[in-house]
Amino acid sequence: MTGLAVLGTQWGDEGKGKLVDFLAEDAKAIVRFQGGDNAGHTVKIGPETFKLHILPSGILRKGKLAIVGNGVIVNPKVLIEEIDGLEKRGISCAGLRISDRTHLIMPYHVMLDGAEERLKAGKNVGTTGRGIGPCYSDKIARVGIRMCDLIDEKVFRDKLRFAIDLKNRIFKAYGMEQQLSYEAVAKEYLAYGKRLGKYITDTGAILRKLDERNSKILFEGAQGSLLDIDYGTYPYVTSSNTIAGNISNGSGVPPGSIDGIIGIAKAYTTRVGSGPFPTELPEREGVALAKAGGEFGTTTGRMRRCGWLDLVVVSHAVRLSGIDSIGLTKMDVLGTMGKLRICDRYRLDGKMIRDFPASLEALARCEPVYSEFGSWGEVSESMIEKLKKKGKSGLPIEIKQYIGHIEKSLGIPVSAIGLGKERDRTIVLRNIWPK
Ligand code: IMP
Repeated sequence: MTGLAVLGTQWGDEGKGKLVDFLAEDAKAIVRFQGGDNAGHTVKIGPETFKLHILPSGILRKGKLAIVGNGVIVNPKVLIEEIDGLEKRGISCAGLRISDRTHLIMPYHVMLDGAEERLKAGKNVGTTGRGIGPCYSDKIARVGIRMCDLIDEKVFRDKLRFAIDLKNRIFKAYGMEQQLSYEAVAKEYLAYGKRLGKYITDTGAILRKLDERNSKILFEGAQGSLLDIDYGTYPYVTSSNTIAGNISNGSGVPPGSIDGIIGIAKAYTTRVGSGPFPTELPEREGVALAKAGGEFGTTTGRMRRCGWLDLVVVSHAVRLSGIDSIGLTKMDVLGTMGKLRICDRYRLDGKMIRDFPASLEALARCEPVYSEFGSWGEVSESMIEKLKKKGKSGLPIEIKQYIGHIEKSLGIPVSAIGLGKERDRTIVLRNIWPK
């Protein structure tokens, strides 16, 4: 197979969905390998906007396989709503395949996510409230329930009875009044199983067949490298590995199957939730950038915190995943922001550093060191036409300087830039699919 991965290099929301949709045109299958419905991918096609949480963005392309790998966790209620929503709009989900090893997000996961966040008062992560942490915890604690269980009533009932008993005790210990009814959850979930059964299969076997046929496979990352459970800003992270090392675990392909990785970076930085953020803008400018860029969470609607492009962050991601080129998104938004800044080093306790620190206390003391750049103003139709005709040489000098600095600092090329929401506003500067 020819495997290409699209990964986020920041704290998520880099605009991966749009690039995946764009690259999916040439792929046979599009595979999600981690995360759950905490992800929110927005794709704009003509006048229509699609917001996806679980389905791989490739579902929007006709005739493709859209694979939910074993490393993903699925809330079946949300998935069914998403499938119904797309089918109502004339998008077929016939290409959907869900791994039989995928873990299920259960109602108690969502309840515990909320309860634990409340109990952490002041030290809460600011999760999306979708049950992500509790579901992955159960997977690791070996008390999770998987898709293959959902389609076997006896097995499902056995596992659920045990789980509900355990969780109801935890609710009591947490001082929660609510108790879950085993029968009600069993009924609800077995109905989901009936609905989803036709999509549940051994997706690893499908990928192996595609490998034999040398097909092109696109691996779609969710969240970003700084939300990685091991390498992100722990504990203000999500509960899965978001970097390239997890593609193989989360989809069942050998590590050598990944031939190319494009890292998506927003032309500036955003993050939702808590935790230190060295290049964060002061509130007034931050809010202005958030408004200009429509920086409101697809999943939670929360306004994202905004700051300048931080290349200490992006280069951490590049080195961890072996990213070979960058897709730079939202250049149209940044272009209107006046004098621009890029950080590629931090000053920490009087010393210059380029490696992203593990300790959040150290990160909170880091001062960004900036280079300044001129902005390119609004992106006009004539600029887009010129770029389509002339490629990279048609770029305004200010964009060339901004990109040139990124390429020099990271040591890898910028292969695509996003200049607007539409499919045709993604400008490819060099070949992205590996040969
Ligand atoms: P969780 O994944 O819901 O447990 O949330 C953990 C942290 O990851 C919180 O700061 C969330 O805001 C953040 N997060 C999770 N998914 C996304 C995403 O798709 N984009 C941006 N941030 C996310």
